[in-house]
Amino acid sequence: MDTAHPSFPILVALFVLLLGVTSSQPYEEFLQCLEFHDSNITSIVYTRANSSFSSLLESSIRNPRFDTSATPKPLLIFTPRQISHIESAIRCSRAHRIQIRVRSGGHDYEGLSYSTISPSLTFLVLDLRNLRAIQVDVPSKTAWAQAGATLGELYYAIAAESRTLAFPAGMWPTVGLGGHISGGGYGSLLRKHGIAADNVVDAQVVDVEGRILDRASMGEDLFWAIRGGGGNTFGIVVAWKLSLVSVPPTVTLFTASRTAQHKQNATEIVHRWQYVVDKLPNDVFFMVVLNSVANPVQANATTIQASFNSLYLGGIEGLIPMMDAKFPDLGLRRENCVEMSWAKSILYFAGFPLNSPLESLLDRTISATGSAKFKGKSDYVKEPIPISGFEGIWEKLKEVGVQTGGLILASYGGKMSEIPESSIPFPHRAGNIYQVEEVAFWVEDGVEAADGYLNWLRGLYEYMTPYVSKNPREAYANYRDLDIGRRARSWGSSYYKNNFDRLVRVKTAVDPANFFRNEQSIPPLSSWR
Ligand code: FDA
Repeated sequence: MDTAHPSFPILVALFVLLLGVTSSQPYEEFLQCLEFHDSNITSIVYTRANSSFSSLLESSIRNPRFDTSATPKPLLIFTPRQISHIESAIRCSRAHRIQIRVRSGGHDYEGLSYSTISPSLTFLVLDLRNLRAIQVDVPSKTAWAQAGATLGELYYAIAAESRTLAFPAGMWPTVGLGGHISGGGYGSLLRKHGIAADNVVDAQVVDVEGRILDRASMGEDLFWAIRGGGGNTFGIVVAWKLSLVSVPPTVTLFTASRTAQHKQNATEIVHRWQYVVDKLPNDVFFMVVLNSVANPVQANATTIQASFNSLYLGGIEGLIPMMDAKFPDLGLRRENCVEMSWAKSILYFAGFPLNSPLESLLDRTISATGSAKFKGKSDYVKEPIPISGFEGIWEKLKEVGVQTGGLILASYGGKMSEIPESSIPFPHRAGNIYQVEEVAFWVEDGVEAADGYLNWLRGLYEYMTPYVSKNPREAYANYRDLDIGRRARSWGSSYYKNNFDRLVRVKTAVDPANFFRNEQSIPPLSSWR
């Protein structure tokens, strides 16, 4: 017998063995690579075999839609404690062809900071939860804040130093600074001070070569791109230097709800709201939440509710006469209003009881939707929607159950109209009356239920087409929506308008091999032409 040639079964066994070795290689060699750089580093790596792996992964999944057994999971979770750990993770991931998904607060609407739509992708989650130091410097009105900090932690740290300083970012406390500012970041101060990314003055970034860069060393092109050009694209932001803004010691909030029936005239008031909201003094931020609610006077019936929520940078005495003069249609009364500090207004918008302690801002476990899954889409309105348009929206809202679908309209104008479209990648400026978020929530499990709600939401979005921005149909990058086209040019012009080409040029210069990427990250020229 010729012993020089192994038999077929032995060959198969060898092949199977080899396959096994090959598939475990990225993981083991990655760990060896990390240990080579720092012998203690593996204590911050959680593999699927680790008993904490699932709880760690789930702790920052903010959309239960991507917390199912079918959701693609990372090979491991890496939780750096210092910046050198990030450098090592980048070097070793590149060497072993493991994609990095960086996660700060985990609020990505499509779950792309901890998952993927490609089931076969080998990736790790670089979770910045341990990098969340914040240093506020009152005299210079600036703060350095690490990317793993939440908005609530930032606002709390600022409030601990001063009642009259604030930062113009989002209104939900657990949102992470890493993703939020990378995609723009708006909140109740946008009409007065612009968005979060407008108010960044320096940053610390680890680039694809593992270099630690600040504004001076990264140059103005990259510094421009990271302020709104989307996360997981140009490098890993470790910290932002933020320019803080002044706010009065007391601000006023109100909520006034009107239904479309029972002489409450919600339709007419929302219609009228569009004509005044972008022209109000910059001290006012005004939101309207539209949804279907149980009919208060008719059993088993629904009606449409418009809930007007506003923040005014001043006391009730200033707000009431201003609203009486500019928007009497709402009939705002003192009893609808409440005064508090700006930091506490974040808890108000997040639905906390009025007497909640400021420390509630530090709670990283609160959930906006509980166990409900959700999907959001976004639009910009430049011409008021006619009454008949709203009547059609009401019909759409009545198609879904009570409070399972809605629209959130957020006022623009003011400072937003003064900042040029190319100032930073976020381009939605002059000409917008308000931004719209269309959203669906559901608690039912399974693909069929999800498809029902997703189809409803897509139908609503389709219905909105004649009433919203066109060529391109603009969208907000931080309300990530994988429906708006697979081609980069398509979603790129919706999110970034004419800034898309500059973003591609920056990406091509800083990460030509497209190491930092996800399903909607800016591609380098070589990847999409
Ligand atoms: P997450 O960690 O999921 O990151 C989002 C994206 O940025 C991912 O692609 C991720 O890889 C990348 N990324 C994260 N950290 C990075 C880093 N350090 N460096 C580079 N890339 C990084 N928006 C708004 O403008 N105003 C608001 O009031 C709200 N409110 C709100 C409430 C709730 C309940 C949700 C779910 C979302 C919002 N948002 C919002 C949207 C929010 O701004 C958006 O989802 C942000 O991208 C979230 O940032 P996180 O760091 O939390 O998410």
